[in-house]
Amino acid sequence: MGLRVGILTGGGDCPGLNAVIRAVVRWSASRGSEVVGVPDGWQGLIDGRVSELGLREVSGILPRGGTILGTSRTNPYRVEGGVDGVLRNFATQRLDGLVAVGGEDTLGVAQSLWAEHALPVVGVPKTIDNDLSATDYTFGFDTAVAVCTEAIDRLHTTAESHNRVMVVEVMGRYTGWIAVMSGIAGGADMILIPEQPVSIDDACKELRRRHERGKDFSIVVVSEGYELEGMSEALDVDQFGHIRLSERGVGAALAHEIEARTGYETRVTVLGHIQRGGSPTPRDRVLATRYGLKAADLVEERNFGRMAALHGDEIVDVPLAEATAEIKTVPAGWWAVAQAFFG
Ligand code: F6P
Repeated sequence: MGLRVGILTGGGDCPGLNAVIRAVVRWSASRGSEVVGVPDGWQGLIDGRVSELGLREVSGILPRGGTILGTSRTNPYRVEGGVDGVLRNFATQRLDGLVAVGGEDTLGVAQSLWAEHALPVVGVPKTIDNDLSATDYTFGFDTAVAVCTEAIDRLHTTAESHNRVMVVEVMGRYTGWIAVMSGIAGGADMILIPEQPVSIDDACKELRRRHERGKDFSIVVVSEGYELEGMSEALDVDQFGHIRLSERGVGAALAHEIEARTGYETRVTVLGHIQRGGSPTPRDRVLATRYGLKAADLVEERNFGRMAALHGDEIVDVPLAEATAEIKTVPAGWWAVAQAFFG
């Protein structure tokens, strides 16, 4: 007999979520299982809101950005009665398994619910930040890098016309994956990321060196989580304890410092949520689709507490505990590639 499978998308949205949903529904339906969608991440399960997700509901959603299910940053462990609500509604809805599509926060909750309450859950690694362990790549990352790279290309031409330094602030939370990849792809002259404590003085030295060898413009990519000396922290935290990094305004502060220290006219562009919106790249559509099929398989096999992951070119499954134990930072090798083109 077929299973009844729930699916939710949690945390910040990213391109490819709908491709996962479509794959889970199509694969489950082909095996005689039914799928129900849980709206708004964990909040939907706390409230007990679900709706049937059939072939009709997922038709045409593969190229669409965002998530047809909606999302939230609700943490059931920080809501009174939240965990009880999730467990109760899972039972009331007669679910056999749950697919949680999310980043370290959403999957951290999934892991705790699995470890503490044996909630039958599997994970799919989503985030533009690419900071989840135990998988080579998360879906959504490739699209964000493509958006940033296009922006850097565009900024090159205006930077060159005006002989300016252009600072581009990109997302990535506490890791510099988006900054490093889009910086390499876009030919950035300096990249500043949380993992590498390059001082502003050293960054300015590189820019001067570049201008002394005859270049009149520069592109600096800075990750929103980069620690700028003397910057004050915004205090608002979400239910997972994260501050809103965009509010720190690291790009603007950096641009100000560069202009003050070098005398080069400097402008800043903050790419913000543009990095998360719109249609997924083909690579993200394919990766998200493969993850969705794997997650549906794991549920059918009742192989819970696992996450679909990419190792090389293979889709495998790993313990949720491994994926959520620590964030995956940019390794020295990638930094060395970026650094080869500084100045
Ligand atoms: O985790 C994805 C992400 O886009 C981060 O890069 C960024 O710091 C954060 O989410 C922004 O969150 P929000 O959409 O709540 O502003």
